[in-house]
Amino acid sequence: MHNILYMSSNISIGYDHLVDGLAKDGYAILDDFLSEQEVRGVIDVINFHLDQENFKRAGIGAADDFQLDKTVRGDLIKWIDPTDAREPVQQVLKRVEELIQYLNRSCYLGIKDYECHLTRYPSGSFYERHVDQFQHSTNRQVSFICYLNENWQKGDGGELRIYLEEDQHIDVEPVAGRLACFLSESIPHEVLVCHQPRMSITGWMLNQPHDLSFLLN
Ligand code: OGA
Ligand code: NI
Repeated sequence: MHNILYMSSNISIGYDHLVDGLAKDGYAILDDFLSEQEVRGVIDVINFHLDQENFKRAGIGAADDFQLDKTVRGDLIKWIDPTDAREPVQQVLKRVEELIQYLNRSCYLGIKDYECHLTRYPSGSFYERHVDQFQHSTNRQVSFICYLNENWQKGDGGELRIYLEEDQHIDVEPVAGRLACFLSESIPHEVLVCHQPRMSITGWMLNQPHDLSFLLN
């Protein structure tokens, strides 16, 4: 990971709120994690990769029990290679790395690495209720999603539904610039049916270096 040498006081106010939320409730939402310009930059990258047909149907389960099942999830993804990402994506990775440094200083998650992909849900698609930690692999600690949907309206669907205790839930609209984070092991969630295409960067903070955890899958 890149080293981050500074952090503005503004950032730490938002990040405090994230740490508190993760510790108390297992999830947290932060608006304006990305600026409008950063959002626009990543949308352009997504459109570029769509044109190049680089997006693939997402699967469920890790490695050998990998399956494609449209009835569970309908999103298309492109994994991000941090060594080969375009500038606007690099910018977001820098923010994610800042956040990881902050988390590692303020709580004991021991994040060593992260993995993430560009994501696009076509209109009509969804992702059924699930948790993000695979059965045979416990390396995913914190899930994070940076939403990229400008002008998202009520009625466009695609809310992230986070399930809480005692049959409660909250719905998070995937509006541009917003970051949603939650504990990968314990928070069930789903993506409600989208009535517009829905874009994000979706990732996981890992408690092992990425390469090793891949071998252990
Ligand atoms: C996932 C997921 C939620 C979202 O990709 O595992 O649950 O809001 N995404 O995109
Ligand atoms: Ni998920």
